[in-house]
Amino acid sequence: MTDSGTSAMSAHQWAGMMEGDEAYAGSRSWERMEHEVRDLTGMAHVLPTHQGRAAERIIYGHLGGSGKVFISNTHFDTTRANIEFSGATAIDIPIAEGKDTALQHPFKGNMDVAALDQLLKEHKGHVGSVILTVTNNSGGGQPVSLANAQGVASNCKKHDVLFLLDCCRIAENSWFVKHREPGMEGLSYRQVAQHMFALADGAVMSAKKDALANMGGFLALRDDALADACTNLLIITEGFTTYGGLSGRDMEAIAIGLQEVFDPHYLDYRIKSTTYLGRKLHELGVPLMRPIGGHAVYIDAKKLYPHVAPHEYPGQALVCELYRLGGIRSVEIGSVMFGKYAADGSLIPSAMELVRLAIPRRVYTQSHIEYVAETFEEILRQREQVRGYGIVREPKFLRHFTAHFEPIA
Ligand code: F0G
Repeated sequence: MTDSGTSAMSAHQWAGMMEGDEAYAGSRSWERMEHEVRDLTGMAHVLPTHQGRAAERIIYGHLGGSGKVFISNTHFDTTRANIEFSGATAIDIPIAEGKDTALQHPFKGNMDVAALDQLLKEHKGHVGSVILTVTNNSGGGQPVSLANAQGVASNCKKHDVLFLLDCCRIAENSWFVKHREPGMEGLSYRQVAQHMFALADGAVMSAKKDALANMGGFLALRDDALADACTNLLIITEGFTTYGGLSGRDMEAIAIGLQEVFDPHYLDYRIKSTTYLGRKLHELGVPLMRPIGGHAVYIDAKKLYPHVAPHEYPGQALVCELYRLGGIRSVEIGSVMFGKYAADGSLIPSAMELVRLAIPRRVYTQSHIEYVAETFEEILRQREQVRGYGIVREPKFLRHFTAHFEPIA
């Protein structure tokens, strides 16, 4: 497991928590959070949830069901699970460059817009929604350009299909857009984010990421009827419309975090410290997803351990080595997370065998990061002795959360 959503809150956020208004309805903390989300997204309806996947369950549970198709640059694991749990199908269409870990491209998180057009024609009348995940967590934390989001939005408009943003790393994505996309340098990070939100019909967010909070999430929507339907589900499963499973203090922290995350000093420090680790590991000769993404460094375990076959889970082997040698927590994003079984029981591997070193926000110092790099020196020295793993026990959905493994002798 990893710490992608375990950020340190600021003194300002903790101070806000002391003032959390815990009224069931009409809480001031809710009003602050609602105002902040509306202002950022430009969307009229804001549904608070206890974390991102709760918002996903509500919207994809409502839009999904058997026969429905969802299309994304890459569905995050909980997104895919909520869609598949409803009986629908999730299709990933990242651009080809996004699947080649060594290739340099400024926006490897982009969606393949030509493939989208084709799929929207093919599945006409059956598309639940199109989902752009920014940054693309399962695809290496790579950013999505505003131009790509525009291409996706106009295709969705043309085919009359709902376009949603999974916006949990929208501020990090904005950093890349401002620094890499021509014509964007004059905008603030928040304005870049607002341009992207303006293209979408709705947004799903895990506030544990770019809202810099310890807990929370939301669903933001434009359409009144869709918001009504989702609000009913919110009340049944999360809580009343003014807290949705959150305490007043959590909503206070989210409202403040959504402002802090667009601070240019914070974002600069954030992206540069991730890049620093990536550069160090690259110099050591560790095969990586490049360029380095926003919240994490992704190791290419297939290249690190070419002698470990995909069905022996090279990524899981690296996760175990990192913990064994350095006490470093990481997560496999490969065939454990996304592999499927064929009818004959053989593994259909995932396109990539990645291991993610997600860096908690505002937590680590440079010496922690140096320590991670030193541990990789040892990983490289022992790479040939490493063997793969077999799965001993696994659940039907999201198996990577609770599966049990044993080393292959
Ligand atoms: N969408 C994306 C892109 C995510 O990265 C996550 C969570 C979620 C949705 C679900 O949000 O955890 O609040 O329910 N990502 C964490 C991670 C778990 O490790 O990257 P949640």
